[in-house]
Order: sequence, then structure tokens, then C-alpha cells
Amino acid sequence: MRTDTGQVINLADYRPTDFVLERVDLTFELDPTATKVDARLIFHRRKGADPKAPLVLDGDELALSGLLFDQTEMKASQYTATPDSLTIRNLPKSKPFELTITTIINPEANTKLMGLYRTNGVYCTQCEAEGFRRITYFPDRPDVLAPYTITIIGDKAANPVMLSNGNFLGGAGYDEGRAFAAWFDPHPKPSYLFALVAGDLGVVEDTFVTMSEREVTLKIYVEHGKEARAAYAMDALKRSMKWDEERFGREYDLDIFMIVAVSDFNMGAMENKGLNVFNDKYVLADPETATDQDYANIEAIIAHEYFHNWTGNRITCRDWFQLCLKEGLTVYRDHEFSADMRSRPVKRIAEVRHLKSEQFPEDGGPLAHPVRPTTYREINNFYTTTVYEKGSEVTRMIATLLGKDLFKKGMDLYFDRHDGQAVTIEDFVKSFEDVSGRDLTQFSLWYHQAGTPLVTAAGAYDAAAKSFTLALEQMVPATPGQTDKKPMHIPLSIALFAEDGTPLEPSSVDGAEYGDNVLHLTERSQKATFKGIGSRPIVSINRSFSAPINLHFDQSPADLALLARHETDHFARWQALTDLALPTLLAAARDARDGKPVVASKDFVEALLAAAADETLEPAFRAQALALPSESDIARELGGNNDPDAIHAGRSAVLQQVADAGKSVFASLYDSMTTPGDFSPDARSAGRRALRNSALTYLSYAENVPDRAKAAFDAANNMTDLMQALTILAHRFPDSSEAAAALSTFHDRFAGNALVIDKWFSVQATIPGTKALERVLKLMDNPQFKRSNPNRVRALVGTFAFGNPTGFGRADGEGYRFLAREILDIDTRNPQLAARILTSMRSWRSLEPARAEHARKALTAIAKAPALSTDVRDIVERTLK
Ligand code: ARG
Ligand code: ZN
Repeated sequence: MRTDTGQVINLADYRPTDFVLERVDLTFELDPTATKVDARLIFHRRKGADPKAPLVLDGDELALSGLLFDQTEMKASQYTATPDSLTIRNLPKSKPFELTITTIINPEANTKLMGLYRTNGVYCTQCEAEGFRRITYFPDRPDVLAPYTITIIGDKAANPVMLSNGNFLGGAGYDEGRAFAAWFDPHPKPSYLFALVAGDLGVVEDTFVTMSEREVTLKIYVEHGKEARAAYAMDALKRSMKWDEERFGREYDLDIFMIVAVSDFNMGAMENKGLNVFNDKYVLADPETATDQDYANIEAIIAHEYFHNWTGNRITCRDWFQLCLKEGLTVYRDHEFSADMRSRPVKRIAEVRHLKSEQFPEDGGPLAHPVRPTTYREINNFYTTTVYEKGSEVTRMIATLLGKDLFKKGMDLYFDRHDGQAVTIEDFVKSFEDVSGRDLTQFSLWYHQAGTPLVTAAGAYDAAAKSFTLALEQMVPATPGQTDKKPMHIPLSIALFAEDGTPLEPSSVDGAEYGDNVLHLTERSQKATFKGIGSRPIVSINRSFSAPINLHFDQSPADLALLARHETDHFARWQALTDLALPTLLAAARDARDGKPVVASKDFVEALLAAAADETLEPAFRAQALALPSESDIARELGGNNDPDAIHAGRSAVLQQVADAGKSVFASLYDSMTTPGDFSPDARSAGRRALRNSALTYLSYAENVPDRAKAAFDAANNMTDLMQALTILAHRFPDSSEAAAALSTFHDRFAGNALVIDKWFSVQATIPGTKALERVLKLMDNPQFKRSNPNRVRALVGTFAFGNPTGFGRADGEGYRFLAREILDIDTRNPQLAARILTSMRSWRSLEPARAEHARKALTAIAKAPALSTDVRDIVERTLK
């Protein structure tokens, strides 16, 4: 393991390279343990650069085997090679020169899964962010762009498939069972977008005709025998290509687009030019093995990686501080795509749930950082929900501020102006300033200030003046390294309703910029007066979640119930139901802690059941309404001194009361929300399944016996229904014979299908209560659990730490001690994976004192370990600070 050097990278230190890279020509001679890489690089010294400056190339665990300068061997006195760098001196002042660098690397031994590695006999690469430097010495930074030629040579029988970026140049067999393939990528790209895949894989093929009528070959490579499970991914790819043409005017730019699914992968997927590499979890699906959520994830991630071709690849980041330039924007694009493919309000609700449960805790804890950070020790630790999801929200706010047409113009200008360049967030924002004439300086604080703004609102109606005044205040909490915050530009989408639910339109608004139903909050404290309001209005603020903020607005249960029924924005209806639910859930947690009886408020239960039974609402929406805020949502709202057992007990008691009150509603939903005929993963059918399964969950409380879930398990003809029934049996009746039988049936039926066995691991890892840890420990001895595979580790250890507050957070601290041991073990193989799972401890300070002390000790034990990767060292030290 490469241990931490303590080096810190600062945005302020950015400067361009001294040398310009003109072209890259790589030859790989594949061998499982000794792959030879010849990198032929042509450079010239940048005009105006120091004529004596040496060329310093990045490396990571490399050994130099050969170095030629213009085809002749270099003298040892002219260069210094270490595992981390290659420094070459006395290079020409201006004329171009050629370096040929030879390294020999061991893909089989590469357990970090960065650089070139082998997974199930397949060679594959992951180069973002700094993996290319594990292949050869290179200026491994995103502002060094060049065209690449790639030649792959290897054993023909073992590698019938040999792929790289760009267009296929040619390939053939040699004597003695060897073969080669050559690829050329004409689009200059940074090294993090390089990819190579070789091995024996099955393929699914299709074509797409672009808007200028070029035919593009589409290929998805999977393990042999899994071809049929790539059909949905292929369909999603073609829809993504079409959508990007229609919505953003972006056409694909090579003759071929390839996706490869691999089973060992650190993240979701990677947008390498023309050759996306995917975690197979986000490619493979069929009704028997994939849930509706899996289908939705595949659609979104296929789209996300494809959209990167323009937002990330054609226009890339100048440096890694600009990561949100490509990620925030591309998440925004994939969100919009899914909204167009499915139900927009339901998609928005899911996005906001995710943002609040993942990004808000990050923004409110020790790992908080701006969307555009200014310093890092390990860039891999900045692929966060703040950069991705909050980054997307910031892009969405630009679209809200400018309106649809100007936003489109700004995007077009950005694409025209910066195609082929490596740019910054300032360049991105400037495109929108230039098309709109709007000054976005204050708005840009969204990129620079960390922390979730808190907006407090209070309304006052003046009947005589027929005016309604909204007093608004904003506060951005202090975050690590940022104590004083400036007021932000917060776009609040607002609507007013009369007591009978009809919308009220103000004749004018004073005190704040207002247009298209958006109020611009720009001061620390501001009063907006809505004129021409004939009766007391019921106000809906932050509709569609127009700004990623916390909102404190005291509204009566009656007003919230009215919004839940009459808001025209269905996201806002869901928000109103959540605002009704939260006080009940928070009180329930406190009452459970104090040993008092829990009582769910009547307004809340009635509004919830009314929404559940409302046939004018789409089933997917009703299912979202019925999914109460999670235990971690409640913990976040409570804010401190949290006792996971009390939160769980309180929430369960509320669920029980909703279930009892709504038993007949749920029984009739369960009977009516069927999906007859062949299984279809479309959004409408998925919504019906979601509502039916939600009804089943409530019925398991109301009936309090496993019978109905067992029957559902036996009758299920798709993975969504099967998993829901299994989850109810395991979570609600963990000691029943029905649960044990279902778990063992499920296991035996899917043994050998790793992605499904991951679900089996996860469902058991999240069984509430103190016994969860023993189960997890026992499952780790199951032969299907592989410590070297990131999906297995995430499914069991990750899901336990992130998704089981009572089991992981048990009062004796055993869960935290278990995690500390696991982190140290995982870190010896795969630091990125270890660091990611360790972020499950980010909210430890909000625990009640005894648990917090156990957590602190476990974190300290990690911090004191003799050898830690940079990745884990960075997370553990920031978490403890
Ligand atoms: N760029 C990839 C994506 O968002 C993710 C790469 C993650 N890389 C990392 N080092 N964590 O599609
Ligand atoms: Zn991405």
C-alpha cells in the first residue's frame, strides 16, 4: 500500500504545464502478471516556459524499464525515476521531441482497481482520477489533451476482444496464437478518459442513426451467457442518444460506441471516450433478477455516462477542483432525461429524498466542502454527493434563474465556445452571464460556500390592504474552514392559494425581484409584499425544490393538508405531506426515548390516507407519499443527542398507527394495484408495483403476522415483488420460520448470481436490532462473499454501516469497532473502497454521548493504525476534527 505523504493540493497553485503534449502512441503487450507498456509521447516546450525547466511526469507504484529520447537510449544522468515520478532534464528549448517510456505492470496484482487490472479473466482499466499514472509515466492531469493511437497485442484465444477508445483501425492474428488490434481516437482527450479492455466477452450489437444521418455501431460487452440481460441497457442507450440530440442538440462523434460490463469495479461506471466501462450491476437486468429500482438506475447511469461525451469529454475540467463542471452538469442532464422518460414530479421527489438523506448530512457534518472545493489531499474522496447532486442542483438553479430559452442559449454558447478545451466553473458561469446579461457573481457563492442554507419564513396577511407580506431570512451555517458566510442568491418558487384551493395571482410584488413565480432572495433578511391578494393566502414555498435549502416555515396542519390536496405542483404536495409527518415522527422519537406512549397526529394520518386513496394521483406518487421519512432523515431533523433505538421505536409506532387506521385502504390497494400480463419495467407498471408493495408493508403492521408476505413471496413473478416480500419477512418477522424459509429459498434459487446474492446480503444486513452484527459476521463467512469484490463488500458491510442505524449503532459500540477493523482490512487492498465506506461515520457527533464516545474511539483506532492509505487517512482525520 502507498501510504499517506501528507501532501495537500491547492486550487490557488494551479499553473499550466511547461510542456505541450502533441500525441500519444501506446503499445500494450498483454500478460496477466507482466504487461509491457511502451508509451511514445511527442512533446514540445510551451512558448514562454522556462527553457531550463525539467519535464516531470507522474507515476504511481511504477518501475521504469526503458527510456528513449528521439529513439536513442537516454543517459542515466539525464533523468531520475522513482515509483511516483519521472523527471527528465536538459530537454530541447523549442523543437518537438519524442520520448519512449517502457514500463512493466502487473494487472493481476492490482487490487486497488485503479489503472490496468484483471477482473474474471478480463483486462480492464479505470483511470479517473489518477489511475493512468499506474500504467505509464505521464502528465496525468485533465488539462493535458492529446489524440491517442493504441495497439493491443496479446494471446488470441484468451483475448478475442481487444478494445480501446476511438475508432477501430484494424486487427489480425499473428503466428503462434497471438493477435493485435489497433484503435485511434481523433478527439484530443486527457489521460483519465483512456480505456483498454481485453478478454473473452459476449456482445450485443445494434445501430443508431444520428441527426445528421451517420450510422453509429453500438456494442455492449458482457460475460458470455449474459447477453440477453443487456437488452434494457441497449434500449436506454438509444433513447439517451436521441434525447441528447433533441434536448441539447448534441450528436455523437465517433463511428462506434461501446459499453463493457465488469464485475469488479470501484464505482458505478466510467465515461471513457467511446468505451464506457460499467459496474455490471448497472447494465444487467431481466424481470427475474432486477427490481424496478435496478431498471431505473440502469437507465439513469447509461444516460449519465453517455451524456459525459459532451459534458466532460469534449469539454473537460482544467483541474480536479472543477470536477462539478462535468459531474454536476451531467447529473442535471441525466435527471432531466429520467424526468422526461418517467414521471417528472415522482422523479423530483426521489431526487430530493436522495439529496436530503445523503448530501444534507455531508453538508452538515465534518466532511462538508464546497461544490467547487479549493483544497484536497486525495481527489478520490471528492466524488461526493456535494459535487454530484448539489452540483446538479446549482445547475438547475441557473436554469430557473434564466428560464428555459436563455438556459438553452447559454448551454449552446458553452458548447461552441469551449469545445475541445479544459475549462473552469468560471468559464461555465460566464456563458450564462453573456447570454442573459445577468450578473451571476452572488449566485456563484453556491459553488464556493459549503453548508445547506437555512431559510426562515413568516407570513402576515393585511386584509385591508389586500396584501400579503413574506418575511424571509437566510443563514448559511459554518462549515470546516469557512466560518463567515455571505448571503446567497436563493431562487424560491412560490405559489399562493385561497382557502378553497384556487391559485391566487399577485398583481405585483414589492421588496424582492419576482418573476415566473420565482422570488429572488438575495439579502440576509428581506420582506416581499404580494399585492392584490383578496383573501388570506396559503403559501407554498420552494416548489419543486427550486433551491437546495432547509426551510423553516410554521404552517398549520390545516394549511399543509390543504397544500397536500390542492397544490398544482405534485412535488409540493409530497413536501406538504412530509412537513405534516415530521413533527409526529420527531415527537415519536422523543416519546419513545422517554418511555411515553407515541401518538401520531390525526391531521397527518388523515392526509396521508387521503393521498393513498386518491385515484386522481398516479400510483408512483402515492407510493412516495406513503414512504415516510427514514430513520436517518429523522435523525438529521432532530439534529443531535440521537438515540437510534428510540428513533426506530418511535417511527415503527407511527407506522403501526397509520397501518391500523388505513387497514381497509391498504387492503383494497393491495387487491387493485396488480399488473396483469407480462412483466414490463415501464414507469407506470413500476408505480403500481410500488404502491401495491407499500400497501403490503403497512398490512404487515396491521395484521402483524407473516402470512400475507409469505403468500406474496410465493406468488411473485418478478424481483421487485419478491424482494419486497422477502424484506418484510426478514425485517418484520426476523425470527419466524417463514423468514428463515424465504431467505433459504431465495439463496438457493439465486446462488451463483452474484448481483442477486448481493440483495440477499443487503436485506439481512439491514434487519433492525442488536443481532444484526452477528448476522453480518456470519454472512462474511458465506462462500459467496468475496472480500476482493467491491459490490459484495458494499452489499454487506456498506449496507450495514449506511443503512442499519439500530444494528450498526447498537449501544455497546460493537458495530463501530467492527467497522474500524473492516476498514483497516479493506484499506490494505482497496483504499478507495475503504474510504468510501468509512464516510458512514460522518454523523457520529449527532449521536447521544455514550454512542458518540464509542464512535470516537473506533475512529481514533483507525487514525492510529501504523499504515493508512491517503484515502482513509484523509477521511478519518477530517471526520475526527
Ligand atoms: N466519472 C465517473 C462518473 O461519474 C465516476 C468516476 C469516479 N471516480 C473516482 N475516482 N471515484 O460517471
Ligand atoms: Zn459522471
